Amino acid sequence: MSKQIVRPARAIQGALEVPGDKSISHRYAMLAALAEGPSEFSHFSAAADCRSTLNCLERLGVKIQTENSRVRIQGVGLDGLRKSRRALNAGNSGTTMRLLTGILSGQEFSSTMDGDASLRKRPMRRVMDPLTKMGARIEAREGGYAPLKISGARLSPIEYTLPVPSAQVKSAVLLAGLFTDGVTSVVEPVRTRDHTELALAEFGAKVDHVGRTVRIHGRPRLEGRKLDVPGDLSSAVFFLAAALVLPESNIVVRNVGLNPTRSAVLDVLGSMGAAIRLVSVSSAHGELVGDISIRHEPLRGGVLEGDTIAHLIDELPAIAVLGPYTEQGIEIRNAAELRVKESDRIAALAENLRRMGAKVEERPDGLRVEGRSAGRLHGAEIEPHGDHRMAMAFAVAALGAEGETSIRDAECAAVSFPDFFSTLEHLVER
Ligand code: S3P
Repeated sequence: MSKQIVRPARAIQGALEVPGDKSISHRYAMLAALAEGPSEFSHFSAAADCRSTLNCLERLGVKIQTENSRVRIQGVGLDGLRKSRRALNAGNSGTTMRLLTGILSGQEFSSTMDGDASLRKRPMRRVMDPLTKMGARIEAREGGYAPLKISGARLSPIEYTLPVPSAQVKSAVLLAGLFTDGVTSVVEPVRTRDHTELALAEFGAKVDHVGRTVRIHGRPRLEGRKLDVPGDLSSAVFFLAAALVLPESNIVVRNVGLNPTRSAVLDVLGSMGAAIRLVSVSSAHGELVGDISIRHEPLRGGVLEGDTIAHLIDELPAIAVLGPYTEQGIEIRNAAELRVKESDRIAALAENLRRMGAKVEERPDGLRVEGRSAGRLHGAEIEPHGDHRMAMAFAVAALGAEGETSIRDAECAAVSFPDFFSTLEHLVER
């Protein structure tokens, strides 16, 4: 269990790349496994979460070769997965567990999916409900928690309206829809990230959109593909935030995914005064990609609420720690979902911001962090509660604080960004 010391800095300068997008990497790997023939991905995510997906697929009989960030997967076809004798371990990864549960629901065999202590506390009923309606039998621990025992079945298509805006739930249903003989529809009252739909189309499935409804036609022939994964905006955001904390900063993050269902954070920071420019934007395999350049400007702060919350849910920790560096402070509302992420992120943000001297009001569905006038942050001992985004967010907060900060169990950053601390250290100036 390693501690990471973060010392205050003067600026962050230079160019960097971040690991491949975690959400996209999971989806490419799963679809490659179900496709006919080989697939090859470059800049595949280095995240421990995506390794969990690859490990589970290997246990299901899929041959995978990895070489740095290049991954080759030999597809087994829609009906080619084999029963794993042991439980599948999703580690810390909600995406692995929820999406694979969708796929495993359509198999002729039964499977058990488990994860680490954090994943065992995250709600799984949200995928169990629609998948059960499709015909799968899923047993969970009391309250709908992992481990899950999934007895696959011949699934029937359904039309399902998402009760919570969740791309993982939408994706679980769409992936299960691959194994039906009809058309499965998911209605999204609030739009969520659409990587699954884009990836399904890339691999040859028929997916269409009618208003807020996404429809997948069952039993397609998926074909192996050679694809590049764009950098992960949810990882890039910590560097953008660092540039907003430290005056005289100027950085470029190259080759980052800019999918409009993911990029709300850029609009929000821009509306608070950040000087962000997108350069060399192009489309690759349905996903927008480009370079993000940011120059330090003082931030005004403001209130985040409503549907936007679903569009920047993973970026909220990085935004919240900017609160003490803004003029008006930052207030987050309608974000109760943050309490069921890798940690209770509302509680963890409030606790650690207070440890650094910030003035914070915690609410059931969000928090209010006072701005600059409440005083400068000071170094502290940070408890990330095993949550990668907490460890990285507080490293950013620490750069502008007075005195050293020590982050406990900082290796949890590897869940999405194994080289985060060395990349940050390389770019900061003191
Ligand atoms: C993800 C969807 C989001 C997000 C998570 C990744 C995905 O979760 O927070 O980090 O890849 O589909 P929810 O579906 O629970 O909102």
